[in-house]
Amino acid sequence: MISRKLEEYINLSQKKVEKHLDGILKERSPEIIYQAMRYSVFAGGKRLRPLLCLLSYQMFSEDKEIDQKILDIASAIELIHTYSLIHDDLPAMDNDVLRRGKPTNHVMFGEAIAILAGDALLNLAAEVCMDWILRYGCRENLIKAAKYLFWASGVEGMIGGQVIDITNSGQDIKNEELLFEMHLKKTSRLIQASCVCGALVAGAEDRVVFDLEEYGKNLGLAFQIRDDVLDVIGDSKKVGKSIGKDIKEKKSTFVTFYGLEKAQQLVEHYSQKAIDVIKKYDNSELLIELTNYLINREK
Ligand code: IPE
Ligand code: IPE
Ligand code: MG
Ligand code: MG
Ligand code: MG
Repeated sequence: MISRKLEEYINLSQKKVEKHLDGILKERSPEIIYQAMRYSVFAGGKRLRPLLCLLSYQMFSEDKEIDQKILDIASAIELIHTYSLIHDDLPAMDNDVLRRGKPTNHVMFGEAIAILAGDALLNLAAEVCMDWILRYGCRENLIKAAKYLFWASGVEGMIGGQVIDITNSGQDIKNEELLFEMHLKKTSRLIQASCVCGALVAGAEDRVVFDLEEYGKNLGLAFQIRDDVLDVIGDSKKVGKSIGKDIKEKKSTFVTFYGLEKAQQLVEHYSQKAIDVIKKYDNSELLIELTNYLINREK
């Protein structure tokens, strides 16, 4: 159960982000690529990363409304996340046929267009960020936010984590350190970037940005471990993905390494660690409630 206040915030932020994404993704020519991009972006994701970005922004911003200034970077994060999902599902990677409750992008549009749609979303995210920086007078905090986002989604982040994932499929992962590195890179980085970007755009001081980074890092770890758990105990209808794929593809996950029970304990542990970093801040209650809610999420 979540409070009315958090529920209303989630609904409002989802609405604003959907509308903003719709404005960014107007159909042009060639039609097929826009259709493929829109198909995955509007397939019904949770929009967790934009939500974290907006919540982090509002914790440290004077603006009490969801400000236009944060929606570009929040949407760019979602574009990058969606591209990572399209590529993650490709036959050469996880070979998945169900995503966000619908057939995956390559099932609908073919592999070539799915690859290009992913690439196009990444390029679009860069363009959105550059336009945003120019529109607000090239302020240093905005440039820092965009730089962090592209660092977090690159080889030091999401892509690097995906490489560890792919190169360790079909075999037992070497050690615990590599398992942590994989999750921290493939999933935490983009989640921590969402929080860091929110704080940076709000003009927060460095020590605050570091705290939000640490919060996002721990939350991201908990989030991916819960994803590993849901791959075993989840309901495909709720999760919107196939279940049992990690075992089938012989993936190394927190469940295969530690077992189900210990993995879920680690979800709780890292969620608590995340909360401990931000509880000293006023206005952190929604972020704390969201973190607690995600521990037992079913989708
Ligand atoms: C799925 O992310 C990929 C992981 C990093 C676990 P989400 O669970 O946030 O997926 P959507 O955006 O709601 O589809
Ligand atoms: C993927 O992890 C994380 C990404 C960077 C896309 P998974 O491969 O476990 O994500 P799902 O379960 O397919 O969403
Ligand atoms: Mg994967
Ligand atoms: Mg996958
Ligand atoms: Mg998974």
